[in-house]
Amino acid sequence: MPKVFITRNIPAIGPDKLRKQSGWEIDQWSKDEVIPRDELLRRVKGADAVLSLLTERIDAEFIEAAGPQLKVVANLAVGFDNFVVPELTKRGVIGTNTPDVLTDTTADLAFALLMATSRMLPQAEKYVKDGHWHTWEPLGFMGQDVHHATLGLLGMGRIGAAMARRGAGFEMKVIYYDAYRRQDLEQQYGYEYRNSIEEVIRESDFVSVHTPLTEETRHLMNAERLAMMKKTAILINSARGPIVDPDALYDALKNGTIWAAGLDVTEPEPVPSDHKLLTLENCLIVPHIASASINTRNNMSELAADNIINVLEGRAPKTPVNKEVVEQKGLK
Ligand code: DGY
Repeated sequence: MPKVFITRNIPAIGPDKLRKQSGWEIDQWSKDEVIPRDELLRRVKGADAVLSLLTERIDAEFIEAAGPQLKVVANLAVGFDNFVVPELTKRGVIGTNTPDVLTDTTADLAFALLMATSRMLPQAEKYVKDGHWHTWEPLGFMGQDVHHATLGLLGMGRIGAAMARRGAGFEMKVIYYDAYRRQDLEQQYGYEYRNSIEEVIRESDFVSVHTPLTEETRHLMNAERLAMMKKTAILINSARGPIVDPDALYDALKNGTIWAAGLDVTEPEPVPSDHKLLTLENCLIVPHIASASINTRNNMSELAADNIINVLEGRAPKTPVNKEVVEQKGLK
């Protein structure tokens, strides 16, 4: 009898689908907080499949705690930096993620951060709520223009490309750097490729990060690169917190090296309530909500469940992260 463990309370559509599989045993940590590691390692014992979140590290210890029958770990996220992929692959365990279904929703939020920081929406809202709005102020809340500004994308994957479309809709000039050049998009939409990250950073009014977190991208936005940004420029991070060095960002925002930052992700995450970044008016931080629309979270939940169902029924998952294991097993 296949056994599945779900590591959090998630939109019901996926867990319900799993529970409808006849004879399957579904166990779930159904709280709204991270499962403690020791509880996780105990509860995954004997599982054939685990539906995990980005808060769970899927490493050798985890895979061994589950046991040799483990076939698939389905992440409820497109990012899978919480997976130690070689450990999964070495043991013939398939890992899956949730790409595509969250692309537009995530880009919407990244663009919302861009709009909110450039036009100072959090500060302006606070001003009204604090009872300071007494007259129309010619000098009040003068922000940065979005239209016709230069949007610089670090990464032109699915979400980067969706951000580019939004920028183009606001008549922005879109420039980008990616190790994988997208000449198709350049020809179709007029986006401009730059030969280095630094060229993008120097030229942009908005720098938006859309790369996965890897050893190469950890602290990609460090003091040196922040100093290359225009004084009037804004940094947006909706990818992964550790891509931006938080101490360097604090200094850059505090000293006026850059104008503002909008972050959906932080290092550490969650950001502690006494963190120095939270003392800055020009730093807008939201709690990793980029994919948080009702439709998208439902779609993510269903896709993660479908990936598990496919593998446990002997078919290829829809969205594997280690295709070689799918091929080794001959799953179609
Ligand atoms: C992801 O999918 O990687 C996001 O960070 C959470 O939706």
